[in-house]
Amino acid sequence: MMHALQILLSALYVFLPAYCANMAPVIAGGLQLPGAVPIASKALGAHKTYRGLIAGYAAALLMLWMQRLLQEEGMLESMRLLDYSATSLLFAALLFAGGALGGDLVKSFFKRRLGKAPGAAWFPWDQWDFVLGTFLLVLPFHPLPWEVVLTIIILTPLLHLLANVTGYLIGWKKVWW
Ligand code: CTP
Ligand code: MG
Repeated sequence: MMHALQILLSALYVFLPAYCANMAPVIAGGLQLPGAVPIASKALGAHKTYRGLIAGYAAALLMLWMQRLLQEEGMLESMRLLDYSATSLLFAALLFAGGALGGDLVKSFFKRRLGKAPGAAWFPWDQWDFVLGTFLLVLPFHPLPWEVVLTIIILTPLLHLLANVTGYLIGWKKVWW
């Protein structure tokens, strides 16, 4: 049996690479990094870029690498669910970032089909897109306790709101949601 606090902390810890992948495109935009080339402007909108994909993959990889270093130092062991030393980090980053960014793109595709402008709020899919995408790719390779999955699904919309308000306040995002 996992303790409630242990579920919460281990859920956040295991999902960190996906959170990083999801935030990286915004940060890359705020820093005005190059590569803002649209992936498919008609289907997804001109704001969905290769820069976002590259930044997301790099961010997930960096996070996974830090998690491996912490594991090898024997740190944060009580909240660790995955073995970061036993898997290829390049492949794990592909699962986390591919799932998160892929989920986001699929969501944007449906948003454009529904005639919603880029950045228009579409609750709860704006918050769940990358969560569902990540679980779809990660869980087949790395099964996680259902309590952990449920915690992420419930908690993420709240964290997402917090991150967006922060991004808006420092001028990296045009809208607060
Ligand atoms: N972004 C990017 N490349 C991606 C995904 C996102 O460059 N593959 C950038 C977008 O330009 C956007 C920011 O990251 O400015 C935040 O992305 P998101 O919240 O997903 O975009 P929205 O503006 O909400 O667009 P949508 O209506 O399609 O959800
Ligand atoms: Mg969005």
